[in-house]
Amino acid sequence: MATDETTSNAQNTVTPTAEVSISSVLSEKRKFPPPADFALNAHVSSMAEYEKLYAAAEADPEAYWAGLAEKFHWFKKWDTVLEWNSPFAKWFKGGKTNICYNALDVHVKSWRKNKAAIIWEGEEGDQRVLTYGELHRQVSKFANVLKIAGIKPGERVAIYMGMVPELIIAVLACARVGAVHNVIFAGFSAHAITERVNDSRAKMVICADGTRRRGGSINLKNIVDEAIVNTPSVRSVVVLKVTNEEVHMHNGMDHWWHDLMGLAADECEPAQLDAEHPLFVLYTSGSTGKPKGILHTTAGYMVHAASSFKYVFDIKDEDIYFCTADVGWITGHTYMAYGPLLCGATMLMYEGAPNYPQWDRFWDIINRHKVTIFYTAPTAIRAFIRAGNEWVTKHNLSSLRLLGSVGEPINPDVWMWYHKVVGQERCPIVDTWWQTETGGIMVSPLPGATPTKPGTATRPLPGIMVDVVHKDGTPCVANEGGYLVIKKPWPSMLRTIYGDDARYEKTYWSDFNDMYFTGDGARKDEDGYVWIMGRVDDVVNVSGHRLGTSEVESALVSHEAVAEAAVVSRPDELKGNALVAFVTLKDEYVGDMTLREALRNHVAKEIGPIAKPDEIRWAKGLPKTRSGKIMRRLLRELATSNEIKGDVTTLEDFGVLETLRDQESD
Ligand code: PRX
Repeated sequence: MATDETTSNAQNTVTPTAEVSISSVLSEKRKFPPPADFALNAHVSSMAEYEKLYAAAEADPEAYWAGLAEKFHWFKKWDTVLEWNSPFAKWFKGGKTNICYNALDVHVKSWRKNKAAIIWEGEEGDQRVLTYGELHRQVSKFANVLKIAGIKPGERVAIYMGMVPELIIAVLACARVGAVHNVIFAGFSAHAITERVNDSRAKMVICADGTRRRGGSINLKNIVDEAIVNTPSVRSVVVLKVTNEEVHMHNGMDHWWHDLMGLAADECEPAQLDAEHPLFVLYTSGSTGKPKGILHTTAGYMVHAASSFKYVFDIKDEDIYFCTADVGWITGHTYMAYGPLLCGATMLMYEGAPNYPQWDRFWDIINRHKVTIFYTAPTAIRAFIRAGNEWVTKHNLSSLRLLGSVGEPINPDVWMWYHKVVGQERCPIVDTWWQTETGGIMVSPLPGATPTKPGTATRPLPGIMVDVVHKDGTPCVANEGGYLVIKKPWPSMLRTIYGDDARYEKTYWSDFNDMYFTGDGARKDEDGYVWIMGRVDDVVNVSGHRLGTSEVESALVSHEAVAEAAVVSRPDELKGNALVAFVTLKDEYVGDMTLREALRNHVAKEIGPIAKPDEIRWAKGLPKTRSGKIMRRLLRELATSNEIKGDVTTLEDFGVLETLRDQESD
């Protein structure tokens, strides 16, 4: 199937900031056309069809997006497709709709009423199936709970739960009444919750008593109790019983989910919301210590979430779609909570860890439920490779017809393993590039049309205009590394950073003059395929989780022993990237193993266990320029190879470098 050609090597470099260089080594020439039988039945079934769609959307983007928007239910149709006051967009202005209505009511009024919407499997093997009819009933009830609690359209509701259907019910109920959900990943610490709840001034927190993890459980309510001591905006906490943890219910403030649901009616008229009504805030890391509240709004997000889901996953009514992402991240928002439901699909939701009780849990699920589409992250695939093929091959995976990858660059070898061992050389792979900010997939193969190459997300979707440019905004030539930008507004783009328009403008729109800057380095090859080369800012992907190195630095510096800290990443075979912290201690402290562990735990407490540095090196001083800027490039080199090959002429004190090498790591 593959056209195996010889490999070539070409080195390309650009210097995006004073400190970062993008280099790319081309070595991948294999190409996999879509299998003929897949293409035959696909929504888009040839490259010619894709090119035609792409050209039409490029010629008239507004007509293209309006055509997609017409497929939804509108209480009132829009007056203007796009109002663009750069960099602020209003899509489908004047229109009134409700995303929850489009995700549920539309199907409940059709034959899909009794179709499975969510097939849920708990870590212990317990199962629940919610049909569209039942999900609609539960969501309507919980929407009434929100109303009874006095939640008004536009008010924020924080949600902190494990992967149970009620998480999706809570999200959709917010959308139904026009409340703005702010889902906080259940791995985040009390401090991280406080920060997010305060920044969004959430009125309510919805949580579970606990969440199951690898046979044990984590008490989430206790974490919420600690978090909301310092959140004056919170008026009430709704607690779902999942694990039967011992929890303290505070009079007047805390309410059981089941008590409130018991009182609520099961019909709730959806709010007729403006197209630009805020839908959710989702916090993500940026290059400063403070996480950014990415704001998405109703109609534009709905249009792209649904249409990208339909075309990228080639979804059909018969499919069982399994996405392993957590709803606490954008992938879970767009491709679990919204995209599949807007398309009337059946999705499989799994509560727990991929290796519980053993490394074959996902493959066992796929076999038992006859999953047809599987969407996961490279970091998980790398862990499966390490665990051994036998975990996969002992299961019958013949139901699978399409595989997806998201969150990080997928290394060609990992892609090939996924293709051969999981896909049995039969399933196309969609490597989907996008971001919290983009709301939905931007660059991805269309599985019935696009020939894939291991390691590239291939071409942008119709309506999405991306380019790779130099620092001055001029386009790079084929295979030249540069900055990935988006040239035209798209409906599911973030509208702002919650409460901080200035930061929104500065972060995304100030570097490349009216083009959105993604923060990623990339190159386009001779076929126009986009190869992501990773972040060029201080954001790192660790095990598929996005972290700002400065956030981790802030956490370290908040420890009493730390005078200064710089955190960089180095490549890691399993996690994609690992975090290495260079820490200068206050004079009275001595760096030893105990303090290393204390600092790692401190970061876990401040942010969450995902942010724990993999390695901490003690530094008498950090390498700085004469103007006092930490030379992170040197630290990255040290962390990666223990050597410095790059330019050190701007370094102020050469002596500090010596102390940073060759330390025993954790
Ligand atoms: O660097 C890119 C990487 O993940 C970043 C976005 O992270 P986040 O907002 O957490 O969203 C992740 C899930 C959509 C991007 O700037 N990234 C995401 N997908 C890919 C990727 N890098 C390479 N290939 C991908 N398919």
